[in-house]
Amino acid sequence: MAQILDGLALSKQIKSEIKEEVEKILARKRRAPHLVAILVGNNGASKAYVNSKVKDCEEVGFTSSLIKFPNTVSEAELLEKIDELNKSKAVDGFIVQLPLPEQIDQEKIINAIDPRKDVDGFHPENFGKMALEMDTFLPATPFGILTLLERYNIDTKGKHCVIIGRSRIVGKPMSILMGRKDFPGNSTVTLVHSYTQNIEEYTKHADIVITALGTPDFLKGNMIKDGAIIIDVGITRVDDSSLPKGYRLAGDVDFESCKDKASWITPVPGGVGPMTRAMLMKNTILAYKTSVYND
Ligand code: GUN
Repeated sequence: MAQILDGLALSKQIKSEIKEEVEKILARKRRAPHLVAILVGNNGASKAYVNSKVKDCEEVGFTSSLIKFPNTVSEAELLEKIDELNKSKAVDGFIVQLPLPEQIDQEKIINAIDPRKDVDGFHPENFGKMALEMDTFLPATPFGILTLLERYNIDTKGKHCVIIGRSRIVGKPMSILMGRKDFPGNSTVTLVHSYTQNIEEYTKHADIVITALGTPDFLKGNMIKDGAIIIDVGITRVDDSSLPKGYRLAGDVDFESCKDKASWITPVPGGVGPMTRAMLMKNTILAYKTSVYND
């Protein structure tokens, strides 16, 4: 049986470290870090994500604000709000929850965020800095995975890391981060995606597999090698009327067939998800500490 990379336990530890830092800030009579989340529309998963972000803020002692817009909001209205948040001395960081409705150009919105307040690490300036190994906000999910690998002291140097999926939020940045000259990093990286033929030919030879696909139970035990490290970013709602919520959360990894072959594996839920949330808190306190308004 593989050992579990317990993202839930580690996220609690990280949040308690952040809480201690906030207590020190408050003891110096400074204001608490402030994170703002913008939520557009009624997407159930987005609402749940944003609500948990607000809850995390309460837990670590941050101030948080949730700004809601209807699905019909115009690009101009959103841009106006972003401009206001960019200028606000009382806001350290903010996020615009994705996806956005069709009438909104997502790239235009991301580009409008002041990179110094871009705690999601989505702005091209921050993405570029990340790629060039300069200090910046790392996108929360890749940052969470790196932290899991780091705190569990998983050796990544010279390992073959296969990343499944090339999204701007997970796969693409992850592929850059695993190849950088650092720990965790220094891996030989293969990025596979929807046009890759015979994905299993890559995963079978991988020391580390990171799946960010959104296809429940995609990665089976016969697609990985003995002793592989398996990181599951997938979290898909699968209808299940026998459960009170009416759905279960499924990862990309078929845990049952992989668990006896892998050396380390992340569970879903309780793996990458809580780490992502903790890293947003980490980025927010970093934004607070580096803000020109808070010395
Ligand atoms: N949608 C799914 N994941 C994320 C995230 O990390 N940040 C934002 N803003 N939207 C998301």
